[in-house]
Amino acid sequence: MTPAELLSRLTVPAVASPMFLVSGPDLVVEACRGGVLGAFPALNQRTSEGVDAWLSEIEERLEAARRAGEAPAPYAVNLIVHGSNQRIDRDLEIVAAHKVLVVITSLGIRPDVIETVQGYGGLVFHDVIQTRHARKAAAAGVDGLIAVCAGAGGHAGLLNPFAFVDEIRSFYEGLIILAGAISDGRHVAAARLMGADLAYMGTRFIATEESLADPAYKQMILEAGAADIVYTPEISGVAANFLKESLARNGLDGSGAPPETLDFGEREAKAWRDVWSAGHGVAGVRDVPTTAALCARLAAEYAGAAERLGFRAAA
Ligand SMILES: Cc1cc2nc3c(=O)[nH]c(=O)nc-3n(C[C@H](O)[C@H](O)[C@H](O)COP(=O)(O)O)c2cc1C
Repeated sequence: MTPAELLSRLTVPAVASPMFLVSGPDLVVEACRGGVLGAFPALNQRTSEGVDAWLSEIEERLEAARRAGEAPAPYAVNLIVHGSNQRIDRDLEIVAAHKVLVVITSLGIRPDVIETVQGYGGLVFHDVIQTRHARKAAAAGVDGLIAVCAGAGGHAGLLNPFAFVDEIRSFYEGLIILAGAISDGRHVAAARLMGADLAYMGTRFIATEESLADPAYKQMILEAGAADIVYTPEISGVAANFLKESLARNGLDGSGAPPETLDFGEREAKAWRDVWSAGHGVAGVRDVPTTAALCARLAAEYAGAAERLGFRAAA
C-alpha cells in the first residue's frame, strides 16, 4: 500500500491514535467503520497471543462490515520499540503474520522492524517530539513521521506545531501526521492547511463509549480545561501530560522525582492505570459519544471547514 492509497481509504484524514489501557478492538473497529484510521498499542494485551486474538477479531469484524457493503478504513498497531519491552520480537512476528497495514513505532528505531513491515507491503509511522529524532527516523526510511507537539496527551513534546511541521517538511517528503490537542474536524482541516497530511487524535477518543477508560476518567476529561493538565516526568520517567485532578487523587502534583529508568513492564502498567493522562485538548471535549457518532461529526466538521476555506475535503 502506498501512502496515497492509505489516504484515499479515509473519510477523514485522521488517526484515532493508540492509547495504553484505552484503545481496544471496539474503538478500533468503530473508528475504521467511521472512516478514521483506528489503532491500538500491542501492549494493551497482556500477551502476544492476546494481540493475535485481537487482530483476528478486528479483521473478522471489518470483513463483516465489508460484506455488508461498507468500506472501512485500515487500522494500525503500535509497537513500543524500547529495550524494556521484552515482547517486541514476538509481537512483530504476529503483526507481520497478519500483514497489519500500518505499524506505529514509539520510543526507538529498529531497522529490522521497518524492513519487516515494509517487506510485506505495510507502512511504518514513527512518533517524534524533536527534530533530531525526526531526522534519524527519516534516514531510517519510515513512511510517516508523527509530530507530537506541545499539549498532546501521553508522552508529549514541547514544540509548536507550525514550527515543527515546517521544520520536518524541510528535510522529509513522507507523510506528516500532526498530534497535539486536535479535538474536532475544524482542527483536522487546520492541520491539513498547515502542511500535515493526517491528524493524530488521542484525548478526544478517550471520551467515547467504546474506549476502555474508566467512566470517572471520561468524566474528569469533560470537566477539565487546558490549565488542568500537568506536564511531568514523575509518572513514567519521560515527560507526559496528566490530569491534575488524577495526580491529586494519588497524592501527587507532578513535582516529584521521576523513576530513573523507563520500564514497559508491570510498573508502567500500574502507573498509567492509577494516574490518568490527557492533553490540552480536554478543553474541547464536552461529551461521550459513540465512536460512530464522533467520526460522523468529525467528517461533517472537516467537510464544512474545507468548504469554507476553499480546499478539497477528500483526503
Ligand atoms: C492515556 C493515553 C495513553 C497513550 N498511550 C500511548 C501508547 O501506548 N503508545 C503511543 O504511541 N502513544 C500513546 N499515547 C499518545 C497518543 O497516541 C497521541 O500521541 C496523543 O494522545 C495525541 O495527542 P492528543 O491526546 O492531544 O490528541 C497515549 C495518550 C494518552 C492520552
